[in-house]
Formats: sequence, C-alpha cells, structure tokens
Amino acid sequence: MTEPAGSHDLDLGALNHHGDDELAAGLLDLAVNVRPDPMPAWLSEAVIAASSRLSDYPDAGPARAALARFHGRDPSEVLITAGAAEAFTLIAHGIERGSALMVHPGFTEPEVALRAAGWPLERLLLNRADGFELPPVVRSDATLICIGNPTNPTGRLHPRDGLLRLRRPGRVLVVDEAFMDSVPGEPESLTGQADLTGMVITRSLTKTWGLAGLRIGYALADPAIIAAMAAVQPHWSVSTPALAALLACLSDEAVAESTRRADRVETEREYLRSGLAERGFEVPVGSRGPFLLARHGRHPDLHAQLREAGIAVRRADTFPGLEPGWIRIAARDVGSIDTLLEALDELGPFER
Ligand SMILES: Cc1ncc(COP(=O)(O)O)c(C=O)c1O
Repeated sequence: MTEPAGSHDLDLGALNHHGDDELAAGLLDLAVNVRPDPMPAWLSEAVIAASSRLSDYPDAGPARAALARFHGRDPSEVLITAGAAEAFTLIAHGIERGSALMVHPGFTEPEVALRAAGWPLERLLLNRADGFELPPVVRSDATLICIGNPTNPTGRLHPRDGLLRLRRPGRVLVVDEAFMDSVPGEPESLTGQADLTGMVITRSLTKTWGLAGLRIGYALADPAIIAAMAAVQPHWSVSTPALAALLACLSDEAVAESTRRADRVETEREYLRSGLAERGFEVPVGSRGPFLLARHGRHPDLHAQLREAGIAVRRADTFPGLEPGWIRIAARDVGSIDTLLEALDELGPFER
C-alpha cells in the first residue's frame, strides 16, 4: 500500500537516526555498516600520497574518466560525489520537482533530502510477510521512485527486472546500490544496464573500504540527469584524497579484495543468521546486505538490553514501516558475533 509520508507518525528526528548515533566509548559496534577490516596498504598509500597535493583544488576529471571506463560507460553518465549521501541531495535539488514515492523500509537519507527540497512524498511500505519483496505491479503517478538494492535495513536484494518495471516516461528511478559491492558478483546491479534513460544508480565506497570519514561515492545516470545533478553540486565537492581513493579502488587488486570481502560478508552473515535463528529470532528471508534485520517476539527491548550489556546494535523502529522491537545487526567476524550470541544467552531464555 502507499501512504502519504506526512501521515506517518515518524518525525525528522527518527529519519535522521543512523547507526553511528548508537555508538559510545566501550561498546562493541554492531550498529554501523562500515567494514572494520584494516585498510589495504595500496589504499592508505594512495590517500597519503594525495595529501601532498592539498594546496591544489581537486580535479575530478581523471577519476571520472577512469570510473566511466571501469563501468564501460561514457563519462557523461558519471558523477563523483562526496559519498552516496551527497548524490541524494543533488537529485533532490537538481531534478525538476514532482512527486516522489519512497520504497520503505529503506534508508532514510533520500527521503530527508527530498523533503528538505520540498518534494511531496508518498511511501510504499513493503510487507515483512513477503520478505519485503517488491510487488509485481506498483501503481503510482510519482515522477521519482527511490529504492535501495540491496535494501538497508531489510537486506532484500530486488531482481533487476522488477526494478526496471518501475521505469516510465517522465519518471526518474533512483536505485541506491550503496551495499551492492557486498553481494558477490553483483548479479542484480543495474550499473551495466545499456540504457540508463530515466535512471540514477547511486554507489558508495565508504562501506566496503572503511572510508565513511573520507566521503566518496558516485552516481551513474543518463547524461541529462547527470548534468542536472552536476549543476547543483558545489565546486570541488570531492576532495583530492577521496578522488585518489576512488582511483585506487578501481585496480584489479582492489576488485579482487572487494570480492574477498563480499565472500566474507556472506559467511559472517550466515553465521549470525543461524545463531539468531537457533534462538528463535525472526529474520527476513533472503537478506543479502552486510547486516541482518531481526526481532524476537518475546524480547522487544533487546536494543536497550544489549546496550546495557556493552553491545551497540541499531534500533530499526525508526525506519518507516518497522515496529518497535526490530534491530539491525552488522555482520562481523566470528568473535564479535559470538560475543553477541553469548550476551543474548545471558539475557535469555531463548529457544535453542
Ligand atoms: C543504504 C545506504 N545508502 C547510502 C548511504 C550513504 O553512504 P555514504 O557514506 O556513501 O554517503 C548509506 C549510509 O549508511 C546507506 O546505508
């Protein structure tokens, strides 16, 4: 069903809540979806080398050309941004204002950006009973539809065909692929789609590469949309070290490491999922993100209880369409997951 966003009882405070708000000194961080892996030497060296050029204004041209080559696209279809988050603001201000449909539960920054730019919004709330699957037909007159793939926080990986069915003349389809590089082989990515007419794909380098503080991401879209976004992007928005990091992350070595990290996410998420399932948690089927959405019918206060026990998970009831009790847990190394499972057993009883 769709509903006017204004009628929802969430306020902007809830929409602005993110995993990093859960952190405090001494807590085990299972709240933020940034990989904690050590930075590869080739990446830190590229960033440090760029620091010797900080008196020059950044030039995004070479990184844009390299990124276009990487994706087999024309540079006019590429815009480098200060994280995927900046791309949402550029979409909200650059694209002619119409009406937007936000597919939820989903990442809230696109909605916040569109609201701030004055877009009227509706929400399509996907159903947990269907594993938050996209329905085959979405009836809407919206001139912009925004959806994550895989979606944060449900982890749902939507098939490309279903996403492409959302396109129509006069509409812009925004697909947020910030976590797509966590899915081995990226089977449902739209970055290779020959015709990008009416489409924007946003990508992030901050998660897999642990670069949240550096701010680096990009958008692929048809040239008219890229031009509209670029027209409202502040000059020199992306710093020289961030551009250097992006260039470094396009090498064969980087691609191989990215694949290893994606494979590890699968293993870690499965270990976490089976531990939660053994304890009677509800976890949406088919989750493919580097995190799991979960809740336990008999333990609605786990977010606060885990915090007391020294573990930060992300409360997920601030996402439109999710009730109290849902939490999002980052997939991490076995040791961290065992710490979580042991804490849960202390808080029990849970089914075994
Ligand atoms: C689904 C999703 N998209 C985009 C972003 C923004 O990423 P970036 O750090 O590249 O701005 C986030 C950050 O948490 C996210 O969860």
